[in-house]
Amino acid sequence: MSRKRTAILISGRGSNMEALIEAARDPQYPAEIVLVVSNRPEAPGLETAQKAGIPVIAIDHTEFETREDFEKAMQAELEKAKIELVCCAGFMRLMTEWFVETWRNKMLNIHPSLLPAYKGFESHTRVLRDGVRITGCTVHYVRVAMDSGPIISQAAVPILTNDTTETLSARVLEAEHIIYPQALALVAKGLVRVAGEEAKFSGTFKAGPPLISPSM
Ligand code: GAR
Repeated sequence: MSRKRTAILISGRGSNMEALIEAARDPQYPAEIVLVVSNRPEAPGLETAQKAGIPVIAIDHTEFETREDFEKAMQAELEKAKIELVCCAGFMRLMTEWFVETWRNKMLNIHPSLLPAYKGFESHTRVLRDGVRITGCTVHYVRVAMDSGPIISQAAVPILTNDTTETLSARVLEAEHIIYPQALALVAKGLVRVAGEEAKFSGTFKAGPPLISPSM
C-alpha cells in the first residue's frame, strides 16, 4: 500500500494536527504526514510537529502583498514535498479560488460545528446563545466559500446545562480528534468520491461514516 503524502496547514495550537500525526504513526494508516506549514511563525503547533519529527515550514502571510502571492509560496513547498493531500487544521486564512481549485477534492478542513450550521468564527458562542441542544464538528472538502464543501464526516456532541464556551469547545475538540483521522483515512484509501457536490462512500462505508458521541 502506498501511503498518501499529506501536508497539514495550521495557524495556532495544532491539536488536530497532533491527532493526525498520532494516527499516522501506525504504518498501516493510509496517509503519511510529511510536512506541516504554518502561516504564523509563532504558532505553538510548529514546535509540537518538530518534536514529533515532522518537517515544518513557517510562511508568514504578512510578508506577501496578496493572498495569491502567499499561496504561491505555499504551493511551491507543497510541490517540493510531493504532497498529494492537504489537511487544514485550524488554518485561519481564507483561500483564493486558484488555490482551492488546485487542491479540489484533495484538501480537507475541520470545523467545530455541524455544518452547514454555524460557519465562521466563534461557533460555540453562537450555539450557546441560540440555546441549541446538539452541536458537533465536521470534516469536509474545501471549497472557496468559507467552511463549505462536501461533508465527509460529522460527530454530534450534546450541549450540557452548564456548558460554557470553554467546556463545550473542549468536548467538541475531543470529537474533532476522533473524526479527523477517520475522515483522512477514508479519503487516503480512496473510499470517498465527490458526485454532484456530495461525498459518496464505497467499501465498508456504504452507509456513510459512523456518527460518534464522544464521552460526556
Ligand atoms: C479547531 O477547533 C478547528 O475545528 C477550528 O479551529 C480549532 C483549531 O484548533 N477551525 C475552524 O474554526 C475553521 N473554520 P487546533 O489548532 O488545536 O487544531
